Amino acid sequence: MNQSKIDLRSDTVTKPSSLMLEAMMAAEVGDDVFGDDPTVHKLEEKTASMFGMEAALFCTSGTMTNQLAIRSLCSPGSEVICDKLSHVFLYEGGGIALNAFSSVKTLNGDRGRITAGQVAASVNNANDIHLPVSRLVALENTMNKGGGSIYDFQEIIKIKQVCKDNNLSLHLDGARLFNALVERKESMKDFGNIFDSISICL
Ligand SMILES: Cc1ncc(COP(=O)(O)O)c(C=O)c1O
Repeated sequence: MNQSKIDLRSDTVTKPSSLMLEAMMAAEVGDDVFGDDPTVHKLEEKTASMFGMEAALFCTSGTMTNQLAIRSLCSPGSEVICDKLSHVFLYEGGGIALNAFSSVKTLNGDRGRITAGQVAASVNNANDIHLPVSRLVALENTMNKGGGSIYDFQEIIKIKQVCKDNNLSLHLDGARLFNALVERKESMKDFGNIFDSISICL
């Protein structure tokens, strides 16, 4: 592709600038297993502090980040509630079944955005042994397959209340969260406060 043209097929086709490549080449590195990589530590600490969260983990893809979060919040036999257009459901190779041994209940949202009412109505009766255990709600903001739709934060607050009432965790696929924050003038800390886990893409 001609370098002077802007490629709008996807934001994922962007390439590092020469300054970014220089920073990578000059970065101090070390063995991460021994905890010797100061650059990764700095990135993780900075990210956790930006969101006001306990800790952050650097992963090499957004899919891996989502899958680790879902695996850590679910147990075998759990059910994940999400919109039918969610990346975690459509585009992660069925990873929820493979990695978290869990099933998915998809909801029909508005351009990928589900409501607190829909979530409340979809929670399984915990006393019915036939049903998987509702365990996690996964939202996506902005919503890729919804054409970049953005959640109303007030709705997220209501969804969180449904989660609290029903002992569900709340995960955010925030691959494009920064776009939503700029558009809505919201803060990372607000999101860090409300979600149990957030994945972001750099
Ligand atoms: C909403 C969303 N979540 C997760 C991912 C996965 O990111 P990766 O391609 O780095 O695995 C993408 C990729 O574009 C995405 O659009």
